[in-house]
Amino acid sequence: MKVVVTGAAGQISYSLIPFLCENGIFKSNEKIDFSLVEIPSAMEKLSGFVKELEDSAYSNINSISVHDNINSAVEDADWCLLVGSIPRGIVLNGKEIKERADLLKINGGIFTEQGKAIGSKAKDSCKILVVGNPANTNALIGCTNANNPSQKWMAMTMLDALRAKAQVASKLQVHVDDIYRLAIFGNHSPTMFPDLENALLDGEIIYKKINDHDWVEHKFLPKIQQRGAEIIQSRGASSASSAARAACETVSSVENPTRSGDVFNAAILSDGSYGVAEGVFSGFPLTSDGMGNINIVRDFSLSEFAKSRIALTSNELVEERELVKDLL
Ligand code: NAD
Ligand code: LMR
Repeated sequence: MKVVVTGAAGQISYSLIPFLCENGIFKSNEKIDFSLVEIPSAMEKLSGFVKELEDSAYSNINSISVHDNINSAVEDADWCLLVGSIPRGIVLNGKEIKERADLLKINGGIFTEQGKAIGSKAKDSCKILVVGNPANTNALIGCTNANNPSQKWMAMTMLDALRAKAQVASKLQVHVDDIYRLAIFGNHSPTMFPDLENALLDGEIIYKKINDHDWVEHKFLPKIQQRGAEIIQSRGASSASSAARAACETVSSVENPTRSGDVFNAAILSDGSYGVAEGVFSGFPLTSDGMGNINIVRDFSLSEFAKSRIALTSNELVEERELVKDLL
């Protein structure tokens, strides 16, 4: 199982790679050949991390190779986890990068080259998860440049879903694992729409159980939409441990069949489902059969409130696509 991780010397990868070595993430339990990618100036730092991985003596690692070039890294890859990119919160050319969309011009270019390399060199069955922000539109750039319809491109919305489950679990005083069918629609940005109208607890709709639209609209939604910024504010750096856990959970959700009656979350290329514009990467409720087939769950019923929020986030994705049209 060849697993490529870009941005391998960064803070997310420092947690993500050890998580991926746990049993049960990859269905096959095949040992992992890691192919770790960094920019040339970070190769020394990466070599330090590789020494730590060696010292951890993981039984699930078969080999580790390091690359400062995406082309040599992705040959025959089964999975590519595209983390490498610049996070917001940092100051660049004297200006603080405040919104994820401000990263479009900085990070977008990375995904043209990586997309081309993955499309032509990775396996046709390769699955690709884009974590680097703005993740949805970076995935669109990568997927378009890969031009290989057999491969499965996704952008990460799992972190938003885990955050939403945690808030609901705390509100209702239940365990996160008891929450089913909680979906994130749209962009991984402040317009995302976490839906509670189809989420279930003990077979009952969570929105009805909470029975407080004001809390949903004015407390819950902004909390999830702004959680990344809240963490940057407290930590002085963007989320890393939780982002790594969410990336690992996405891999595991694709590799293993979705539990009965549930969904998992990632953004995939929209076919127009739920009124989302076609041809953008949007969060949807998904299932996996654990054999490489990922499907949108189509039986969610949406209120006018939900539809208007989904339209908002879909429009934002269309605007982002317009901004990067020279890369597509
Ligand atoms: P980081 O700065 O700690 O690490 C990023 C690493 O990427 C650095 O080591 C850098 O050298 C490397 N890099 C930059 N360009 C590269 C390239 N072309 N090829 C390979 N490596 C490259 O940042 P981080 O905290 O690990 O975050 C990484 C990205 O993930 C950011 O864009 C961040 O905003 C995003 N993120 C997304 C989510 C999500 O839910 N989708 C959550 C958290 C963070
Ligand atoms: C997050 O949601 O934590 C990440 O996308 C990082 C960020 O910039 O908010």
